[in-house]
Amino acid sequence: MDNESAAEDIIKRRAIFYRSFGIYAEVGGFYDYGPIGLKIKRNIETAWRRLFPEGLGLLEVETSMVLPEVVLKASGHLATFTDPVGVCTSCHTPYRLDKLLEEYYESRGDSESLSGVKRLKLNDLAARIASAGIKCEKCGGTIGNPENFNLMFKTQIGQKGTDVAYLRPETAQGIFVDFKDIYRAYGLKLPCGISQVGKVFRNEISPRQQLVRVREFTQMETEIFIDKDAKFDGFGGVDFSEARNEKIPFIRRGEDSESELTINELLGDGAIPNEYFAILLYKEKELAELLGLEKGRYRFRQLEKEELPHYSMGNIDLEVKTSYGYIEVAGNAHRSDYDLSSHAKLSGKDLSVLSNEKKVLPHVIEASIGIDRLLFSIIDGAVRDDGRGWKFLALKGSVAPYLYAVFPLQKDEALIKKAREIKAELETKHVASLYAEAGSIGKRYARADEIGIPNAITVDFETLEDKMITIRDRDSSKQVRKGIAEIFDRVV
Ligand code: GAP
Repeated sequence: MDNESAAEDIIKRRAIFYRSFGIYAEVGGFYDYGPIGLKIKRNIETAWRRLFPEGLGLLEVETSMVLPEVVLKASGHLATFTDPVGVCTSCHTPYRLDKLLEEYYESRGDSESLSGVKRLKLNDLAARIASAGIKCEKCGGTIGNPENFNLMFKTQIGQKGTDVAYLRPETAQGIFVDFKDIYRAYGLKLPCGISQVGKVFRNEISPRQQLVRVREFTQMETEIFIDKDAKFDGFGGVDFSEARNEKIPFIRRGEDSESELTINELLGDGAIPNEYFAILLYKEKELAELLGLEKGRYRFRQLEKEELPHYSMGNIDLEVKTSYGYIEVAGNAHRSDYDLSSHAKLSGKDLSVLSNEKKVLPHVIEASIGIDRLLFSIIDGAVRDDGRGWKFLALKGSVAPYLYAVFPLQKDEALIKKAREIKAELETKHVASLYAEAGSIGKRYARADEIGIPNAITVDFETLEDKMITIRDRDSSKQVRKGIAEIFDRVV
């Protein structure tokens, strides 16, 4: 069973996100976002866009979610995009064997065995589960029939059903397939990058832990295309002499604990494969901190060889500490020319491009960030108590659903008019604000705090005389009087 996440009550009460199709029989692994959750999700996307495609000067595309089989045959997903699965031989409940074993070791505090699970293949996993005596959570039956189960959702194109297709398991394939056309049409030169945000689908065996393991989720992906033989000469306007000296919490391959290491040190010993990869990690650190994941809550981990996806020469995950332990929020991969060369082979099209007057089949460095896990970890870590037992979300302005709540002190026509004017003015400045007039002012503050609104503006009778409002800080609940004009001049 899952632990309760710290924010579970608030998530439920305010319908930040909730199970899809809730009025029907339960179908696991699908979540809908309510209005507040959606605003938070959009803010995460906006922050990512500012730092990645816009910040690094890349192009952004939107490609199809339905992929003909041939695309996924070329990408290797058809043959290898699998998870190790077993089923209860009595009640037929399916289990993901690696996760089941990890939970078992975690519950026993056996960190050595826990970290070794990543290296186990299907039959070893099944053998360990049997020897540990791990049984079905539901009926106590034996878990058997191990198999590598393909995670893609299959569908068909057209009426006859002869054209097999799949819902995309990552947004990246659309970028690879379109790469050469975009390169030409936009006059790109290597190194260059293309990003995409969009839904992806994976038929997870045992979806759980709210948004952590779901079957439909949103990725924000960036693919950087490079000439592997060309000397690094900067990328995306990043000051690399500064980036080099940045310290990041890092777990090297084969180690269990993290150290604070500079990007330079990690490049030096090959843990980070090249400067482009380093830039993506540097930007992810910036994104994490911008969104309120302070130091100590995130780390980078170099994956073991056995954990690498089929396309990868090396992976480094961004992991965030949550109520469910550390979870992978972003996967960064050195994909080499794996994808472009396989698509070239199967399509029969030459996907190399001209760079400095020579033909190059680019290598790809990827940063793939899952919005849903990011959102979950931000909310999960933002729960605070006001000292009287009221829980609220201490969200940073960059992710909060609204920057301001605007309240008339009471239901009075003149106060309402003034409060609405302030809200309208905020809107013209593209500052998101929530207006509410029902309920006591204390209750309205509490409701605004609960969903993470950093500041509440209250309009009272004096406001009508002196054009001053009361502004209340969510975290300290301190109130100060300020001129209305001052509010419009600052961004929280
Ligand atoms: N294109 C590379 C790729 O898809 P990945 O590590 O499989 O890499 C990237 O996925 C990110 O997508 C993960 O770091 C995670 O944030 C998110 N993700 C993957 N599977 C997920 C799931 N079942 N539920 C929620 N998010 C998931």
